[in-house]
Amino acid sequence: MERKKFYITTPIYYPSDKLHIGHSYCTVATDCMARYKRLQGCDVMFLTGADEHGQKIEDKAKAAGVTPQQYVDKIVEGEGGFKSLWKLMNISYDRFIRTTDDYHVEAIQKIFRELYDRGDIYKGTYKGKYCTPCESFWTESQLKDGCCPDCGRPVVDAEEEAYFFRLSKYADRLLKLYDEHPEFLTPASRVNEMKAFINQGLQDLCVSRTSFTWGVPVDFDPKHVVYVWVDALFNYMTALGYKNDKYHDVEKYWPADVHFVGKEIVRFHSIIWPAMLMAMDLPLPKRVYGHGWLLLEGGKMSKSKGNVVDPVVLCQRYGVDAIRFFLMRSFPFGSDGVFSNELLISTINTDLANDLGNLVSRTVAMVEKYFGGTLPAERESAPADDELIAIGNELRNNYEKQMEAFAFQNGLAEIFKLVSRANKYIDENAPWVLAKDETKRARLATVMYNLLESIRLAGILLKPYMPESAEKILDQCGAAENERTWESAAAFGGLHADVTVQKGPVLFPRIDMEKELAELEAAAAPKEEQKVETAPAKPQIAFPDFEKVELTVCKVLACEKVEKSDKLLCFTLNDGTGKDRQILSGIAKYYKPEELVGKTVVACTNLAPRKMMGRESNGMLISAEQGESLHLLMLDDAIPPAPSCAEKAALKAS
Ligand code: MSP
Repeated sequence: MERKKFYITTPIYYPSDKLHIGHSYCTVATDCMARYKRLQGCDVMFLTGADEHGQKIEDKAKAAGVTPQQYVDKIVEGEGGFKSLWKLMNISYDRFIRTTDDYHVEAIQKIFRELYDRGDIYKGTYKGKYCTPCESFWTESQLKDGCCPDCGRPVVDAEEEAYFFRLSKYADRLLKLYDEHPEFLTPASRVNEMKAFINQGLQDLCVSRTSFTWGVPVDFDPKHVVYVWVDALFNYMTALGYKNDKYHDVEKYWPADVHFVGKEIVRFHSIIWPAMLMAMDLPLPKRVYGHGWLLLEGGKMSKSKGNVVDPVVLCQRYGVDAIRFFLMRSFPFGSDGVFSNELLISTINTDLANDLGNLVSRTVAMVEKYFGGTLPAERESAPADDELIAIGNELRNNYEKQMEAFAFQNGLAEIFKLVSRANKYIDENAPWVLAKDETKRARLATVMYNLLESIRLAGILLKPYMPESAEKILDQCGAAENERTWESAAAFGGLHADVTVQKGPVLFPRIDMEKELAELEAAAAPKEEQKVETAPAKPQIAFPDFEKVELTVCKVLACEKVEKSDKLLCFTLNDGTGKDRQILSGIAKYYKPEELVGKTVVACTNLAPRKMMGRESNGMLISAEQGESLHLLMLDDAIPPAPSCAEKAALKAS
């Protein structure tokens, strides 16, 4: 019989920074689903990858003084990069796509041209707002308090010749899709958001850019690059070989069974993506699931807030399986969840160390102690077994229902119903009392068998969540290869009668919460109160004096060491006037010149010119100096170069 196909995807991540635990959340969930489907016997294709084009990457690469390709290569393939994180976290992807892969680029060019030939892409002028970090266009009315409605950051004006996709044409078909296929987009709350968005009036989508070059060039009009989201969304098909010869799996796996995506990118996946597929007359994905965010107390994790949680550190400290388990156990997948160290440690202690770990170690120890490790074949059942056996018999079905609804937390809850009942069963049947009575050998063997069988069932169904620990659990309870399968978990009683257990090391060591929290806090705290040498305070000045200072936001165009000087760097700056400005700054000890190219800095620009080492300096860069360290004042890229911007900011801040 042909195996059922199952195609599942994660979003492809931006290689602009290292990934944090929030990114791992979606990938672990996808891995869990992929492993569950494989356990069921499906032929699974699990795709993940990197979304490598766009202005944000171009800017970051420039700031780092490398080419965009070098920049993304390092983050995706390098030490500590995407692929090494997924390896560490035991992510069993089948294919990894990079949007800079030649086959993808070639396919995107063909797709863009075909959409143009079909009349669904046309040329026009784009006027509006653009959020660079999100790579999103917005109309004035969509902004929230003048900022990007997704991330809250400032947007910039954008006006340029551009190609547009006739998104508006698909509004009715999209609404019909949601109504006729309620399973297309879940959880249901996301559908209401999408309907509201469409009902506001769907506008055509700008799908090309001319203001930067790091993207897929439109082959028939090469000053344009394809909008990153068009480039990115089609990855789900190009990775199967759509419009390219690298792979030949479109027929086999398309349409996708499910795209797992974070809630903020549901709009792209349930409006733009199906509309583009409709325009190409292609089948739509069967499901899109918009999961919630992992938050920290105080809001979203973000590099700019400096509050990201590093998955590598967590995995090294607590073990990969414990982290995978925690992510799936602690938060309902469709809603937001708040991460905390306390929750992590208490989940490990309660569920893994106490409930599951103890059940395994106590049972195995008792089988060793009372039977030398191998159970005899005699049995004596009792009504006291019925409830445990009933839960075991229903487990796979109940678990399956939850997994099919992507309710990972509930899937685990089903397993833990059996684990808890088994722990209670130990106390109720007191094997240590039975062991004292020679006439109760058969009864004792039955109790131990029922416990081992419960452990076996739990072990099989835990495989998607904790692949390595689940196998260790199955090793300990003595399950044979054919007793570790999905089929063998259909009913209670599949473990062979004369099973031999294998004692192993403690699966999940208990963590001392208080000690651990103190250590974590100490690791996060600044090393030692540094004694700061402060310069003597200068005399007060009146506001009109302060007002004389012209502070300007500048972008560093070039930076080099000044010959024969240990201290000086020479900056060429864009100060928003259209004319380059040269400033010399004595900070060579603190920065490498190439690190500063592309950065946004603040300069006093009405300081009288001054010559140093034969070069003229027209202003002074603002920096903060403390003891041995010095930091240039830098802004994020959202503020374009312009005089006085910084001064206003300074006034506001005071
Ligand atoms: N490149 C796009 C996706 C293109 S898919 C065709 C993108 N990349 S991303 O790196 O910014 O985000 C990738 C995924 O990570 C998104 O689904 C996003 O929701 C998810 N997460 C980022 N931070 C997260 C949390 N704190 N919690 C949960 N998921 C989070 O968007």
